[in-house]
Amino acid sequence: MKAISIFGLGYVGLTTAACLASRGFKVICFDVDEVKVDAVNSGKTPFFEPKLDELLRRAVEEGYLRAVKDPKMAVLNSEVTFITVGTPSRDDGSVDLTYVESASRMIGEALRLKSGWHLVVVKSTVLPMTTENVVKRIIEEASGKSCGEEFGLCVNPEFLREGSAVEDTFKPDRIIIGEVDRRSGDFLEGIYRGFYGDELPPIIRTTPVNAELIKYANNAFLAMKVSFINMIANLCQKIPGADVEVVARGIGLDKRVGPLFLKAGAGWGGSCFRKDLEAILDYAVKNCLELPLIEATLKVNRSQPYRVVELARGLIGGLNGRRISVLGLAFKPGTDDMRDAVSIKIVRKLIEEGAEVVVYDPKAMENARRIFGEDVEYASNVEECLKDSECAIIVTEWDEFRMLKPENFIKLMKTPTVVDGRRIYDPKVYSKKLKFKAIGLS
Ligand SMILES: NC(=O)c1ccc[n+]([C@@H]2O[C@H](COP(=O)([O-])OP(=O)(O)OC[C@H]3O[C@@H](n4cnc5c(N)ncnc54)[C@H](O)[C@@H]3O)[C@@H](O)[C@H]2O)c1
Repeated sequence: MKAISIFGLGYVGLTTAACLASRGFKVICFDVDEVKVDAVNSGKTPFFEPKLDELLRRAVEEGYLRAVKDPKMAVLNSEVTFITVGTPSRDDGSVDLTYVESASRMIGEALRLKSGWHLVVVKSTVLPMTTENVVKRIIEEASGKSCGEEFGLCVNPEFLREGSAVEDTFKPDRIIIGEVDRRSGDFLEGIYRGFYGDELPPIIRTTPVNAELIKYANNAFLAMKVSFINMIANLCQKIPGADVEVVARGIGLDKRVGPLFLKAGAGWGGSCFRKDLEAILDYAVKNCLELPLIEATLKVNRSQPYRVVELARGLIGGLNGRRISVLGLAFKPGTDDMRDAVSIKIVRKLIEEGAEVVVYDPKAMENARRIFGEDVEYASNVEECLKDSECAIIVTEWDEFRMLKPENFIKLMKTPTVVDGRRIYDPKVYSKKLKFKAIGLS
């Protein structure tokens, strides 16, 4: 089995590392954050991701995975290096390539010391031309070697979803390989053939620029689908008798549309959609092109969280001085990640309007404390969060909240009132028993 190094121990890097190690690859990880390196070596994930803890613990115990603090050691002890560092956005929406650049430089400096051929694979989401214009150039400069001859280069965008990252890595819909030369593509395909065996997903081999574009187009399309149904949800809200859930089911059964990503709610969040859409928009503007569908997708999503606040305000007649429970803070269930979570906008708006906010999330409380500080009250369970409250807002659709019955709210709240920002409750049942409003319901 080939030895693989991974630069960046975030959701993508650590999941990739642990999955590869679980199938017998020797994986050596590097991160500039030494706390993460130490955590990984002691078999602990630095964030919550289902199934990852167990996979990582076993891989470390069995000696298939280790993390190092010296980037050269990672590169020199492997045949291929995956770059999985973050590509955040700057305030103006443009992409910040600092981490990709620094990782490329470190890899290049290590390659200067290596005698044989080595493959570098960019898994981070990067804009068209970045791999060839930035990564390749930096590695060539730092290593003194020439790409396509002394080292190979591929773009291999990642599509895993936080909350099901391990499953997604074991069963991806497809693998995209953007190769600078044939040898690089063959080598990477070989790794995936070894990893997936008989369950090899479809592989698309193409140019680096197409691979880079596929990732952005994919995220833009998914975000657009959600913004589309949220737009229809807002329309439903104005039409007597309309319900977006029924409309979504109806259109989702059309095979050309499909049912996934047609769930109306308080908007999409997370570390990828907004930053990727803004980055490709910024790229287009700089290339004198408009991307109106992407602009509209972002526009719908900017205001969507506030729809939930409007519903709460309408139901209880003003928010000033009222005690409001926010159930769910993570950007989606199954993760503790609050990057760009809609809960942040909702909580801040509630505070701005004078509400007394109490929050609860099964996994994201630690991250929430870093974001909201002393501005909200933190409950340690659902019951504590609902106690004496005047309105409960469902922001993240955790199973724990799905299982609640109207009676739970009635028993605990001062005035049993629920705003379902994720459409997890049956409106027929809920509106009979308490004051109830939901996104996309007239
Ligand atoms: N999170 C997702 O669901 C997801 C899904 C698909 C694609 N992606 C893309 O994958 C990339 C990584 O995302 P993530 O969420 O895993 O990021 P993350 O922010 O969770 O982790 C990035 C890691 O890179 C480390 N790092 C920074 N500079 C480094 C360097 N020079 N060398 C080594 N490590 C360095 C950081 O310390 C951090 O631990 C991004 O481009 C993202 O857009 C993310």
